[in-house]
Amino acid sequence: MAQPRTESVTLTTDRLVLRAPRESDVDAVFAACQDAEIQRWTVVPSPYRREDAEFFVRDLAPEGWRTGGNRIWCVFERGSGALVGSQGLVLRPHDPGCAEVGWWAAKEFRGRGYTVEAARAVARYGLRDLGLRRLEWHAYVGNDGSRAVAEKVGFRFEGTLRSYAEQRGVFHDAWVASLLASDPA
Ligand SMILES: CC(C)(COP(=O)(O)OP(=O)(O)OC[C@H]1O[C@@H](n2cnc3c(N)ncnc32)[C@H](O)[C@@H]1OP(=O)(O)O)[C@@H](O)C(=O)NCCC(=O)NCCS
Repeated sequence: MAQPRTESVTLTTDRLVLRAPRESDVDAVFAACQDAEIQRWTVVPSPYRREDAEFFVRDLAPEGWRTGGNRIWCVFERGSGALVGSQGLVLRPHDPGCAEVGWWAAKEFRGRGYTVEAARAVARYGLRDLGLRRLEWHAYVGNDGSRAVAEKVGFRFEGTLRSYAEQRGVFHDAWVASLLASDPA
C-alpha cells in the first residue's frame, strides 16, 4: 500500500491534543529530553543539546510528515497547553502495511494515563485512517513502563529479539509486541 505525501494531522482525545512539533516547542522538548529515563530507553542523543530539540522540530518531524514515512506528534494537555510527551509512527518502506510506534512522556506528567490515551489515538489513526495492517512496538528488554503502556493499548507480546535495537551504536535485546487491524477492539 503506497503511503502518500501528507500534511501533518492533529489528533484530539478527551484530555490531550497531538499535533506536529513547531518552533515554539523547542524549549519544552529540550527540557523534557534532559530526563535520564528518556535518554536511557530511547534513541534520543545523550547528552541532549538544544540543537537536538531544534533538529527534532525543524528537520526530523517536518521531513517525516512531508514524505509520509515518519509521523511525529508533540502531545499537549488540553487544559494547560503543557507539553506532556511525544508519539511517533515510523512506516516501513519495504512493508508499507506495517509501522513502528514510539513514545515518551515528560517526567512531571507521568502516571496520569496520558501516554496510554495518546498511544490509543495514534493506534486508531494508523490502523483506521492509514489502513495499516500491523503496528509494532519495540522496547529494550526491561522497559516495564513502556510495556505496560503497550499492553494497555492492546498490543500483544510476541517475544524477545536478540541484539536487535540499535541505540547510539550499541545493539540491545528488544521486546516486540504487535497490534493488528484485525484484533478485537
Ligand atoms: C514509559 C512511559 C512512556 C510511561 O509514560 P506514562 O505517561 O507514565 O504512562 P501512563 O501514565 O499512560 O501509564 C500507563 C500504565 O503504565 C504503568 N506504568 C508506567 N510506568 C511503569 C513502570 N515503570 N513499571 C510498570 N508499570 C508502569 C502505569 O502504572 C499505568 O498503569 P495503571 O493505569 O494500571 O496504573 C514513561 O515512563 C517514559 O517516558 N519513559 C521513558 C521513555 C520510554 O521508555 N519510552 C518508551 C521507549 S520504548
